[in-house]
Amino acid sequence: MNSDSLTPRGNWGSKVAFIFAASGSAIGLGSIWRFPIMVGLNGGAVFVFAYILAVILIGFPLMLTELTIGRHTQKNPVGAFKALKPGTPWKLVGYMGVFTGVCILSYYSVIAAWAAGYLYKTLFGAFRGEITWAVSDQIFSSFAANPLEVLLCFFVVIALTTFVISRGVKGGIERWSKILMPMLFALIIIMAIRALTLKGAGPGISFYLKPDPTKITPKLFFYAVGQAFFSLSLGMGTMITYGSYISKKDNLSSSAGWVCFSTTLVAFLAGIIIFPTLFATPGINPQEVQASTGLMFQVFPLIISKLPGGYLFGVLFFILLLVAALTSTISLLEVPTAFLIDEHNWRRGKAAVVIGTAAFLLGIPSALSNGASPFLTRIGLMMKMDLVFGNIMLAVGGLFITIFVAYAWGIPQALKEIAQGNRSFKVKPLWVFSMKYLAPLAIIAILIFTIILA
Ligand code: TRP
Repeated sequence: MNSDSLTPRGNWGSKVAFIFAASGSAIGLGSIWRFPIMVGLNGGAVFVFAYILAVILIGFPLMLTELTIGRHTQKNPVGAFKALKPGTPWKLVGYMGVFTGVCILSYYSVIAAWAAGYLYKTLFGAFRGEITWAVSDQIFSSFAANPLEVLLCFFVVIALTTFVISRGVKGGIERWSKILMPMLFALIIIMAIRALTLKGAGPGISFYLKPDPTKITPKLFFYAVGQAFFSLSLGMGTMITYGSYISKKDNLSSSAGWVCFSTTLVAFLAGIIIFPTLFATPGINPQEVQASTGLMFQVFPLIISKLPGGYLFGVLFFILLLVAALTSTISLLEVPTAFLIDEHNWRRGKAAVVIGTAAFLLGIPSALSNGASPFLTRIGLMMKMDLVFGNIMLAVGGLFITIFVAYAWGIPQALKEIAQGNRSFKVKPLWVFSMKYLAPLAIIAILIFTIILA
C-alpha cells in the first residue's frame, strides 16, 4: 500500500499536478543536453523540423496511448500488459521497458552528475568574469575526465533519486516539479534572448532555423523519432506508469498535449541559446564542436558570463538544470520500482535502493568513458549506450506499444478510456491514423533503413 494517499494507489493531486510531474519527467537533459547534440549531428534546421513533425505525428499520439493504457489498468508496464492480455507474450514489452529504463538511468545520471559538478564549480566561481571558449572547453574536459569527481557526483545523483522515489509519488515527485519547472523556463527564456542579441549570432540562427534540404537523409528521421521518444519519455512505459496515477476525471488528450508542447518549447529554446552563442564565439570552428558530447556544458557558461549578474544567474541555472534532470531520473527509476512493488510485492524503499544501486554499478563505465579511461573513451561507450537504449530500444518499445493498442487491445477499448474526462476528442483522427498506420510503419521503415545503412 502506498501510504501517501487514501486510495490504494497514490493519485496525482490534480490534472495540473499531473502535467507538472509528467513535464518534469519529459523536460530534462533530453531537451537541453541531447537535443542540441542531435541538431549538430544531423545538419541543423532540417533536424529541428523533423523533430517537431515527429513530436506531432508520432510522439503526441503515442504519449496519449501510454497514458490511456496506464490509467485504464492502474498498473506498471508489465502489470498493464498482463492485465489487458493475460497469458500472452505482450508482457515482454513491459519487461523490455523496465530493462531499458534501468539502462537509460545508468548513463543519463552521468550527465546529471555533470550538471551537479557544474553547480558547485559555478558556486566556487569557476565561471566568474568573461569566459572564453578555450577556458570553458578546458574546464569541461578536465572535469569529465576526472574519475573521482564524476563518480562522486554520479553517486549523489543516484542517491537523491533513490531517496525521492522511496518516499512515493506524491510526497516525492509532485512537490519537486511545481515551483521549479516554471523557474527553469523563465531562465531559459532570458538566456535565449541574450543569445539572439549577441553580435555575430546570425550564422548560428540560420544554421538552426534555415533548413538545408541537401541534409535530409533517412538517418535524420531515425534520430528525430528517437529524440521525440527520448525527450517525451516514451517507448518504455514511463507514461504508462505516470498515467496509472491519473484520475478518471482528467482529460488525457489535453494533458498529453501540454506535456508535448512544453517539452518541445524547452528543447527549441535550448537550441536558440546554443547555436547563436556557438557561432558567435571567436576562436572556434563551430562545425567541429557541434556534435561534442559536452556541447551544452561548453556553451552555456559562455552565455551566462555575458549576462548581468552572471554569477548568481549561473548558480540558479545549474540548480534548476539539476532539478530538471532529477525529475527525469526520478521518472526513470519509478518504472522499475513500481514494477517490483506491484508484481513482486516489494516494499517501495527496498525496490528503489536495489534498482538505484544496479543503475549506479551499470553506469560506472559510462561515467569513465569521457576521458577517464582511454579504452572506454575510444569506444565512446556513453553515446553507444545512448544509441542502443535511448534510440533503438525506445523505438522498438514504441513500435510494440502502437501495435498493441491498434491490433491487440483494440482502438475501441482505448477510445472508451480516453472518453472518460474528455467529451469531445478533437484529435481522434490523428490519433487513430497514427496508431494504426503512421507510427508503426514509420518506425519499422526507419529501423530497417538504419540497420541497412548502418
Ligand atoms: N525525457 C527525459 C529527458 O528528456 C528523460 C527520460 C525520463 C526518459 N524518462 C524517460 C527517456 C523514459 C526515455 C524514456 O530528459
